Amino acid sequence: MPLSTRPATPADREKVLALVPRLRSFGEPPLKRPLESLDAAERRALEGAFDAPGSATVLLVAGEREDDVLGVALAEEESDYFTSERHGHLAILAVAAEAEGRGVGRALVRAVEEWSSRRGHRYLSLNVFANNSRAIRFYEDVGFVPDTVRYVKAPGRS
Ligand SMILES: CC(C)(COP(=O)(O)OP(=O)(O)OC[C@H]1O[C@@H](n2cnc3c(N)ncnc32)[C@H](O)[C@@H]1OP(=O)(O)O)[C@@H](O)C(=O)NCCC(=O)NCCS
Repeated sequence: MPLSTRPATPADREKVLALVPRLRSFGEPPLKRPLESLDAAERRALEGAFDAPGSATVLLVAGEREDDVLGVALAEEESDYFTSERHGHLAILAVAAEAEGRGVGRALVRAVEEWSSRRGHRYLSLNVFANNSRAIRFYEDVGFVPDTVRYVKAPGRS
């Protein structure tokens, strides 16, 4: 069956939430945080999109059958810190482990780009943990480039 993307429906909720641990499958972020707070934040964002869908947010799933959820993308509108330019922000992208490397991520990024272009945005942004090397390679492969890079420093560390 061909791969397609579509807006998520309430029936997709559990399958989408089951993908949350994929977002920390690369290992531990450089700044240590409780693992449960990582999952809780991602769940909150996804549940918010199911519970209060808005025109400035899009929640998309990809699959090969009608009820399939091989991957999810959550995007929202944000403002640039310097110029206030409105743009699309890819807040969450996760593909099921067994579906990796089959173009699911690429299809979801393309669908988010289409949503963003329809809203008149010039570009998409995203955040990625600096040691999530697989995701970084993927994003650079589909055309993202680094812009600002966020650094952290624990007190007393020299
Ligand atoms: C990152 C992720 C979304 C990529 O999704 P995917 O469905 O495996 O990616 P695709 O199959 O669409 O790959 C698209 C392209 O990226 C490249 N790519 C994918 N994985 C790669 C890897 N490990 N190394 C190098 N290039 C890679 C491929 O060249 C591919 O190009 P092609 O379509 O021309 O073959 C997926 O690995 C994932 O869900 N990871 C865990 C969650 C995560 O870290 N999300 C990002 C949070 S910021």
